[in-house]
Amino acid sequence: MANIRFHLGEAIPLEMHKVRTVQRLDLVPIERRLEAIEEAGNNTFLLFNKDIYLDMLTDSGVNAMSDQQIASMMTADDSYAGSATFTRLKDKLVEILGKEHFLPAHQGRAAENLLARYYVEEGMFVPMNYHFTTTKAHVMVNGGTVLELYKPEALNPVSDDPFKGDMDTDALTALIEKEGADKIAFIRIEAGTNLIGGQPVSLANYEAVSKIARSNGIPFVVDASLLADNLHFIKTREEACKDMSIREITKRIADLSDLIYFSARKLGHVRGGGIVTDNEEVFKGLLSMLPLYEGFSTYGGMSVREMEAMAVGLEETMDEHMINQGPIFIEYMVNELVKLGIPVITPPGGLGAHLDAMAFLSHVPKEQYRAGALGSALYIASGVRGMERGTISEERNPDGTDHIAAVELLRLALPRRVFTLSQVKYTVDRIAWLYENRELIGGLEFYEEPEILRFFFGKLKPTSDWQQKLAAKFREDFGDSL
Ligand code: F0G
Repeated sequence: MANIRFHLGEAIPLEMHKVRTVQRLDLVPIERRLEAIEEAGNNTFLLFNKDIYLDMLTDSGVNAMSDQQIASMMTADDSYAGSATFTRLKDKLVEILGKEHFLPAHQGRAAENLLARYYVEEGMFVPMNYHFTTTKAHVMVNGGTVLELYKPEALNPVSDDPFKGDMDTDALTALIEKEGADKIAFIRIEAGTNLIGGQPVSLANYEAVSKIARSNGIPFVVDASLLADNLHFIKTREEACKDMSIREITKRIADLSDLIYFSARKLGHVRGGGIVTDNEEVFKGLLSMLPLYEGFSTYGGMSVREMEAMAVGLEETMDEHMINQGPIFIEYMVNELVKLGIPVITPPGGLGAHLDAMAFLSHVPKEQYRAGALGSALYIASGVRGMERGTISEERNPDGTDHIAAVELLRLALPRRVFTLSQVKYTVDRIAWLYENRELIGGLEFYEEPEILRFFFGKLKPTSDWQQKLAAKFREDFGDSL
């Protein structure tokens, strides 16, 4: 995106790309949306694309690829072992991150599986700035405990702290003193904390955490899935970094860490993942598991086409005008919502806009899954699919009670370069209508609940006929509009 001043009115985000391939979308009538959400058990993961107008579920694997990426796929070199594509990807990673070894994996959580198996033993701790669902599950199934060492501001929905994703380093030091370094499997920093609204981590914090990790001999792992947004925020929000290039910031983060893993469904705009490290021993340990869980060491479960496009995507990620598209669109959407007095996480982060369902639906009991209910209501009102990031996304406590999430968010992801500004405006319009009619929205309860990662396949029903009433009000206000 370019920083352009406008003569008339307010500045709007201006894209530095044009669209050359399009996909037709349909907006099904509200009567069908009511049925579809019921069929999906009020779980937006279980909706089908044919019923969805704007898919803001995630930015995972659905970002728009560039013409250069698509073109590169045609030149991919296919072979089970030793393809030239692997070498090109590895060389690109070495160039950008400066780490010698690369282990390809089919996606981010596959990397997490390998890391948790390698590092985590029964009774060990993994401190993080914030957990991510799949990361936590992998640590837990290997007998470890995730500890979230965020600063208090991290959970404050309305804030002007530019780096809410920073780890509380005093808490980290205290933990190491209390438990001993041997009990810490690794320290994990997630670039751009997914579950608290894509809030970034400052370079100063990477530096402080790295120092503590190194002085205690604890491996420092960076989850770089959301690194692109984080790079943009470091460059634009951290005074000390404003003259650094994106490449320099990336390299500095890499140098501070012992190991980096990522979901290339986000970083690099393809579908895949991987791990890089310069620790020979760790590399060999992980490598021994790779053929069992992923595939041979030169493809790791990925198609070579995706790998070829990943190398191009990673190079494009070093372009400031490419990586700022997401954050700038998100900032626009968040600011529009703020102007309307709608509760949304601030400051704007990466990944998407995050509605604060705790405040939006303060009249709905917490046990009735406010963020899930808001997700259903928004789908009914607009055909827009968001993702619950609240209590439904948590695991139950050992005693079977619900673990009420610290933040209750409806995430509206903006996959990069996919939606237009008019689509963002439409979404804001429908959210504004919902906010005015929020008293009509009620709660949800489970009728099918998987034991682990229940948010993927769990099914819920409304606690009353509130969805019919919401649809009736929609018809009253919008007539025969879709
Ligand atoms: N780490 C972070 C920070 C993530 O956001 C994700 C995925 C993963 C790890 C796992 O990667 O999906 O490739 O296995 N986030 C997706 C999302 C699912 O929708 O936010 P994966």
